[in-house]
Amino acid sequence: MELKDLNLEKLIKNNREITNLGNVADYIPELSKANKEDLGICILDNNGNIYCAGEYQTKFTVQSISKVVALMLAILDNGEEYVFARVGMEPSGDPFNSIRKLETSSRGKPYNPMINAGAIAVSSMIKGDDVKDKFRRLLDFFKEISEDQTLEINSKVYLSESETGNKNRSMGYYLKDEGIIKGNVEEALEIYFKQCSIEVTAITIAKLGLFIANEGRNSLGEEIISPRISRIVKTLMVTCGMYDSSGEFAVRVGLPSKSGVGGGIVSVVPNKLGIGIYSPSLDSKGNPVAGISLLEDICNELKCRIF
Ligand code: DON
Repeated sequence: MELKDLNLEKLIKNNREITNLGNVADYIPELSKANKEDLGICILDNNGNIYCAGEYQTKFTVQSISKVVALMLAILDNGEEYVFARVGMEPSGDPFNSIRKLETSSRGKPYNPMINAGAIAVSSMIKGDDVKDKFRRLLDFFKEISEDQTLEINSKVYLSESETGNKNRSMGYYLKDEGIIKGNVEEALEIYFKQCSIEVTAITIAKLGLFIANEGRNSLGEEIISPRISRIVKTLMVTCGMYDSSGEFAVRVGLPSKSGVGGGIVSVVPNKLGIGIYSPSLDSKGNPVAGISLLEDICNELKCRIF
């Protein structure tokens, strides 16, 4: 089926019930205010077409999808070798916030940049004059690649994250002790909590997806990141983007994707489409339960899986 013939309204309707199988995140108290039944989608193609349905205009915080953005900027700032000397490229098989392998792994570094430990290390590598400048650079980069100049943080979510982020803090201090975080650990955590609190819609997320799908080129065809960085990001999205259900997700959906506990999923159909989902009801692994089912239906209809 062609994208223009896809009945997104019907697919949303069919999957809305699945939101009952999960729950909104509540470990960051502000996130528990989301509406569990919400389900929205935006799909963008290379001809400038935009197809949206459901709650695609609802704002939510980007959460772990920001790890993809921070990774691109950290590689631009420091080079691939520097970044991956300090963070691995392997799936951990553990939940996103797991701490246990930090000490037991012989690698001596977080498994990958998509789990919290790896992402905090990556955020510590963003360059800038001071913490304010570092976060401003990250936000500006996100605005540039998503071509959305309206992006800003949700201060309530940021404070809620920062006040309750004890596990993230403990990982940050451990990474500092191991020499993986070089600068001030509280500053690295501030950047990480702030990047997770950036407010987006499914449209923003679809634009991010299209940027990655187009190997790091913007809508004018200008190269912002190299095809090599884009390939690294896409590969890590496939192997680690959905945490300890990345394998099952790859079988069901078969697209490079990254989830966030705010309910977002970005999915990439290489050289073709960017897909943004909003689905705040999460499964036990912290992934959007109805959003995954919706993506599976779309891949069945469009036959756009990459494997
Ligand atoms: O660090 C945290 O726990 C959150 N700010 C982000 C986690 C997240 O989005 C995991 N994704 N499903």
